Amino acid sequence: MPKPYLVCRDDELNDGDRRVMSCDGTEVGVFKVDGELVAWHNECPHRSGPVCQGRIYKRVIEPVADDGTVRALAYDETVTNIVCSWHGYEFDLKTGVNQGYDRIRLRKAKLELKDGNIYVVV
Ligand code: FES
Repeated sequence: MPKPYLVCRDDELNDGDRRVMSCDGTEVGVFKVDGELVAWHNECPHRSGPVCQGRIYKRVIEPVADDGTVRALAYDETVTNIVCSWHGYEFDLKTGVNQGYDRIRLRKAKLELKDGNIYVVV
């Protein structure tokens, strides 16, 4: 039977913040990205690493010059990624989709907002 676990008050979670918590042994990461709340199980689809504790940054792109060379890295400000610290798989933090192969995805956790509080339901 799914059970709600209190994360925090909604106004305590600012854009870019995360909370990783254990819900009686099931670990879940809750994130606020561009004003949107998302929650993922803290288990990477590659080899079960703690993906929700990885680095978060804008998607890295490599603009190719007219001569076919790449001289600098840049960031795509519209996409926020989380990177699993075990082997570097990158996932779009809002959709959970892997950046290299879209059939690999993070597992979504259910969120509820009630009386200004955020709950994870697992
Ligand atoms: S376990 Fe996450 S990249 Fe391998």
